[in-house]
Amino acid sequence: MLAARGGWQALRRCASLPRAQRVVRLRVREALRAREPAGEVKVQGWVRSVRSQKEVLFLHINDGSSLESLQVIADPSLENRDLTFGSAVEVQGKLVKSPHKMQNMELKAETIHVVGPCDAWSFPLKMKERHPLEYVRQFPHLRCRSNTLGSLLRIRSEATAAIHSFFQDNGYVHIHTPIITSNDCEGAGELFQIESSNEARKSAEKTHFFNVPAFLTVSGQLHLEVMAGAFTHVFTFGPTFRAENSQSRRHLAEFYMVEAELSFTESLQDIMQVMEDLFKTATNTVLSRCPRDVELFHKYIAPAQKDRLEQILKNKFVTISYNEAVEILKQAPQTFTFKPEWGCDLQTEHEKYLVKHCGEVPVFVINYPYDLKPFYMRDNEDGPQHTVAAVDLLVPGIGELCGGSLREERLPFLESRLQRLGLTDAYQWYLDLRKFGSVPHGGFGMGFERYLQYILGVDNIKDVIPFPRFSHSCLL
Ligand code: 4AD
Ligand code: MG
Repeated sequence: MLAARGGWQALRRCASLPRAQRVVRLRVREALRAREPAGEVKVQGWVRSVRSQKEVLFLHINDGSSLESLQVIADPSLENRDLTFGSAVEVQGKLVKSPHKMQNMELKAETIHVVGPCDAWSFPLKMKERHPLEYVRQFPHLRCRSNTLGSLLRIRSEATAAIHSFFQDNGYVHIHTPIITSNDCEGAGELFQIESSNEARKSAEKTHFFNVPAFLTVSGQLHLEVMAGAFTHVFTFGPTFRAENSQSRRHLAEFYMVEAELSFTESLQDIMQVMEDLFKTATNTVLSRCPRDVELFHKYIAPAQKDRLEQILKNKFVTISYNEAVEILKQAPQTFTFKPEWGCDLQTEHEKYLVKHCGEVPVFVINYPYDLKPFYMRDNEDGPQHTVAAVDLLVPGIGELCGGSLREERLPFLESRLQRLGLTDAYQWYLDLRKFGSVPHGGFGMGFERYLQYILGVDNIKDVIPFPRFSHSCLL
């Protein structure tokens, strides 16, 4: 809307300029939303369709500002052989009311300049074809020009802004946590180690660039915990790296994680409330800010997802304990590849069953076995089935969307756990946080790509990232 207003104001401002300077450059989105006709406008973009009739030449131009393309009508004399599907053009003319019900405005061309021709025959995308996601995934450098990826990338951009707004509006301070770090927050050994290329060559000497082993971050949590000692509400939203199976439909080696940390928490419920509010607020914002882009997914990729999402946004998420989850799984009429037992991690097949059992809605599973979870989680001091105050949010079709916990804020508990793991020396700085003004606190992380997969109903996580890097021979 603002953009449309901006473009329109530009039109008004230029109205009294000398003729040579009076041409106003409009984005396609602005042109489509214009309220009045306008003379001498210029639109730049890529040709999405060309149709030549005896009396008139029709083009559709798209510049990435919206899913809809702008219709251009021109005299057939303006046609030239470089004017093909995919070519980059600059069209100058008058913006006029369109006689067609489906569109508000169209551009009556006076000049058409082909800035960059495109050999439509060898160009892998074809006019008017709805290419499957699997097909366009083969062209990581060209797929952003398809409708589906165009919509996805606009949604991704809006969702990023919506997540930042959610936290800013709720008084969180945004922290840029390091990408290069020496800690392995999750302790799961899924680290990418980094060295300068020179160091790698001198591997025999084994000297490290930073004198200690350094890794790409697997989570900004520990750094956020540092900040939660000075700010009661902090968040980070950045690239995260895990050396995990890149063939899975829900794992990436490089992904974006949204993480929040809250001080002075009273219970795990405080964390779960933020997870649920974040999910609902961001999703409502995305649905209202890019309805046409979301509609494309809900119409062609995941029919029925729209209704399901609307229901989910209206209702409270369900909560069950890990103990209850194991009982539900044990009583399931189906057999699982991994037999459900107390103390074992929930596998994707278990997560999917639990979500189905609860009515295909988001489900919080809380209080996991102590021995399953990382050192930083708060001991529930229960027994004989010893648990920690952990929470995972499971969603239909995906499994785990968010993982979080209360953190162990009590020095003696943390000291003895680190000691047992042989990590005391490495985590002296972390123990300091418990010595100086420690407060009950907790937080969570949400995988941004899994979030997009879920709201849009996309099956493969590689279809919600800008570049499907490791699925193709070229790394880009
Ligand atoms: O459950 P995880 O491992 O939690 C943490 O890293 C905590 N330290 C976060 C915190 O409390 N601040 O990861 C959080 C989420 C997962 O629930 C999942 O959605 C996503 O990150 N995730 C991945 N997404 C894509 N590809 C991968 N390889 C992922 N690994 C985790
Ligand atoms: Mg997890």
